[in-house]
Amino acid sequence: MRKVALITGASSGLGRELARVHASHGGDLVLVARRTDRLQELKEELETTHRVEVFVLSQDLSHPTAARMIYDTLQAEGIQIDYLINNAGLGGQGSFAERTMDEDMNLLSVDIIALTRLTKLFLPDFLKRKSGRILNVSSTASLTPGPYQATYFAAKAYVTSLSEALWMETRGTGVTVTCVLPGGLSTEFGAQAGLEGTGLAQALIQSPYKVAIDSYQAMLRGKRRIISGVTWSQRLALKMIPFMPKILILVAALGLNKKEA
Ligand SMILES: NC(=O)c1ccc[n+]([C@@H]2O[C@H](COP(=O)([O-])OP(=O)(O)OC[C@H]3O[C@@H](n4cnc5c(N)ncnc54)[C@H](OP(=O)(O)O)[C@@H]3O)[C@@H](O)[C@H]2O)c1
Repeated sequence: MRKVALITGASSGLGRELARVHASHGGDLVLVARRTDRLQELKEELETTHRVEVFVLSQDLSHPTAARMIYDTLQAEGIQIDYLINNAGLGGQGSFAERTMDEDMNLLSVDIIALTRLTKLFLPDFLKRKSGRILNVSSTASLTPGPYQATYFAAKAYVTSLSEALWMETRGTGVTVTCVLPGGLSTEFGAQAGLEGTGLAQALIQSPYKVAIDSYQAMLRGKRRIISGVTWSQRLALKMIPFMPKILILVAALGLNKKEA
């Protein structure tokens, strides 16, 4: 039987590559994002290239009802999800005091609330069927606090923590929860987050395709978490974080996230 993957944030970047990887495995797809034209284009590409079925669902995940709408629509259509891939996410540069309430609430609604709602809706069905995979897209940003991207770094810390707890809760059930922590990717993320002029912008160079392959394989194997899309020196630095004084980490994170005056 062909596996059906629901991928949020499939209209660009990592989500689009994850959709391509799943389709190349012969799987059907439910693609979610706001930009319907992008999703339609991807649907045509995947249906033509891989002869899979693709269902497009245009939803703004910052709305509190979006996850429920997605779940109810799929129930009504009789589409059973095998893999839930919570990929949609956004960043946001700037000092916490200066960023607007709307900007930060929007970020938290997509990065935390929508991911949590979708997981809460689909996980019980997976457990009843004793099968299913969840892949949550976090970030290496989840490993440190991030001054001048404070809400984004904190949101991703939540995603990593939630995912690892659920990996443990679901052990031995036939269901797995995997978390991927990508490094800096060359996607639309940097521009959307307003990172131009920061040190971090220089590091957004890794291929989302390679990270999509690593993440997909980790999800199929039921791995707890993987780091992907980092250089060997970045991987080494990330391993050192627990042993470094917090002030050094904060100063380094500030240097990456703050715009040069
Ligand atoms: N790029 C990086 O350096 C990096 C590093 C680590 C982790 N990540 C994470 O990787 C994931 C994918 O990011 P990316 O790099 O591929 O960025 P991207 O190219 O900007 O893609 C973000 C995706 O999220 C969707 N999205 C954003 N807001 C949404 C909303 N309100 N409702 C529905 N969909 C929404 C976008 O679709 P629409 O705009 O069409 O709605 C788009 O498909 C995110 O969770 C991000 O935090 C990225």
